[in-house]
Amino acid sequence: MTIEKQYINPKFPFMIHGGDWNPDQWLDEPNIIEEDFRLMKLAGINSATLAIFAWAKIEPQEGKYDFEWLDKIMDRMAKEGMAVILATPSGARPSWLAYKYPEVLRVREDGIRNLFGDRHNHCLTSPVYRQKVFEIDRRLAEHYKNHPALFCWHLSNEYSGECYCDICVESFRKWLKNKYKDINLLNHEWWTSFWSHTYNDWSEINPPTYRGENSIHGLSLDWKRFITDQTVDFMKMEYNAVKEVTPDIPVTTNMMGTFPGLDYWKLAKALDIASWDMYPSWGRSESEKSEAIYNGFCNDLIRTLKNRSFLLMESTPSMTNWQEASKLKRPGVHLLSSLMAVGHGADSVQYFQWRKSRGGAEKFHGAVVDHYGKEDTRVFKDVAGVGSVLPKLNEICGSNHPSEVAVIYDWENRWAIETMNGVIKRERRQYDRICSEHYGSFWSFGINVDIPESTYDLSKYKLVIAPMLMMLKPNVAENIKNFVKNGGCFVATYLTGIVNENDLCFLGGFPGEGLQEVFGLMVEETDGLYPKDRNTLVFENKNILNLKGKFKIFDICDIIRPLGCEIIAKYGEDFYSGTPVLTLHRYGKGQAWYIAARTDSNFLNVFYKSLIKILDIKPNLYLTLPDGVTVQKRTDGKNEWFFIMNFNNKEINLTLPTKTVFKDVIDNSDVTNFIKIRSFGVKVLKKL
Ligand code: GLA
Ligand code: ZN
Repeated sequence: MTIEKQYINPKFPFMIHGGDWNPDQWLDEPNIIEEDFRLMKLAGINSATLAIFAWAKIEPQEGKYDFEWLDKIMDRMAKEGMAVILATPSGARPSWLAYKYPEVLRVREDGIRNLFGDRHNHCLTSPVYRQKVFEIDRRLAEHYKNHPALFCWHLSNEYSGECYCDICVESFRKWLKNKYKDINLLNHEWWTSFWSHTYNDWSEINPPTYRGENSIHGLSLDWKRFITDQTVDFMKMEYNAVKEVTPDIPVTTNMMGTFPGLDYWKLAKALDIASWDMYPSWGRSESEKSEAIYNGFCNDLIRTLKNRSFLLMESTPSMTNWQEASKLKRPGVHLLSSLMAVGHGADSVQYFQWRKSRGGAEKFHGAVVDHYGKEDTRVFKDVAGVGSVLPKLNEICGSNHPSEVAVIYDWENRWAIETMNGVIKRERRQYDRICSEHYGSFWSFGINVDIPESTYDLSKYKLVIAPMLMMLKPNVAENIKNFVKNGGCFVATYLTGIVNENDLCFLGGFPGEGLQEVFGLMVEETDGLYPKDRNTLVFENKNILNLKGKFKIFDICDIIRPLGCEIIAKYGEDFYSGTPVLTLHRYGKGQAWYIAARTDSNFLNVFYKSLIKILDIKPNLYLTLPDGVTVQKRTDGKNEWFFIMNFNNKEINLTLPTKTVFKDVIDNSDVTNFIKIRSFGVKVLKKL
């Protein structure tokens, strides 16, 4: 089977190495711009992302455009054979726009309109803002439509935020009217009879706020959905402004991993390519493993959004200026971190930013070229190192990252978990963390994983895990049922199937929507534990997993009434000691597992190790991997590449499968069965 490679843009079928470059900050220092071109060559840079925050330089006065400076840069980029990712400048506006049309500025939750300043400080609903953004986007597109350097469009920058202006509130009411049609239906779905909150008219509804209504969860969820829809609507306006003029140029926007403010599943549907900004907190904990797992999870999520390779739009060449500490990357970490993204499906390594600004908010954020200005720095050499490796990976470009396992990540479900009151304190519910913990087992076995949403077509997977799938949106229960019926293995956990898409609880026991039949159980009560509380999971003698012993339980315990499920493990303590905590139900041709309590990764690792044996899921390489090491696989259907990554601060030795012959793509050498990987090292092996 040969899969066609899906290049980001077939005009540039190679790995992109670049990042945000802001020559607009240096226009009065032409020598510096000249020097940048020299340094970029030295660092193996073949791309730049331009004009992200350059609106004031492109349209210094309303309707007066100046493209001359950008023409020069673009032309020079083309001459050097470099690819331009051209941004629309809507992430920050020029002062004339804010002063002449104050409605473009964002209104805060307390009803006060912001002053001019900062970035992302605009109302995405404002017709004036939309019009002005459309005009400048369209002009950019018209001006550069035939430019040979144009590789990709970068819409705005990290879309985010909410606005409470009158236009937004009015649009929200319209959005609600469109969704519910009848105010009585809204009252029912939001359960407004509680605390006498019944609305008589659409005009009585305001967004959730600490000044008024914050107790109606249906309202909070709908507001978040509205914010996503408004953002998508705004983004589509920008998309059309450029796409109608340049239909062959792919369009993306830079996302932020699991950013809670927007449902990226909806953004992704309106984009050609997914891309994201990755900023791991390397050096924060004793071991880098958890950081690598969480960021691996985010990379896999971004890849799954479009089910194809993506762009790593930003990362720092050294440190950030906004994390708890501006920790420098330890030797080796820069290449490892960069290739980590590529191993999970990125076709680029890009930075924020190329040259450090002299002033402004980010003057102390890591950049390839420091204030010092020369190439003989450790950071520059690290970047040049990546620049020398990436061309060797060009043949991987456009390939995919096939997965038989999926961990569901669903924004609306996350919102429901975070909005509700109960079970345990909000900070301890940790949907992101728990999803990435389940994912972490597979990362440690070197097994590829996809991260789909709950409505995704699950039929291509052997194993699907849905940690805390509290909200069952329409058709999700059917989706799960069919998946299991047709032979899939589904793992659910505590807090599954509690509410519908409007946060109304299912009646008749949990999990709702017919899932009791699938899991062969009902959850009768849920015990929320204090941080000091512990329970244990004790395996039954002779169980299908062949596992023994006791494992730690904390935070949340569902008390189960079995309705036909097999009991694999029981609680060891408390008044529900001896009742089921891990169950299996065979349903149709498949298996439905239920983990009724929060466990740690010791349990998850042994549980999933057993399960993958039963399901015959093969690791990417037939290896037992040392702790803190993963293998990610990319393939174009014909060739296979293995990214072996060591996140330990010590060298490791590995024994490769004997029957396979590999080539080390970075060193261009043959590989024997024994390989060593340096501390924070990475190898890319191609199967021959
Ligand atoms: C984000 C933004 C960039 C910059 C970096 C700093 O990702 O998109 O403009 O602020 O953070 O880390
Ligand atoms: Zn607004």
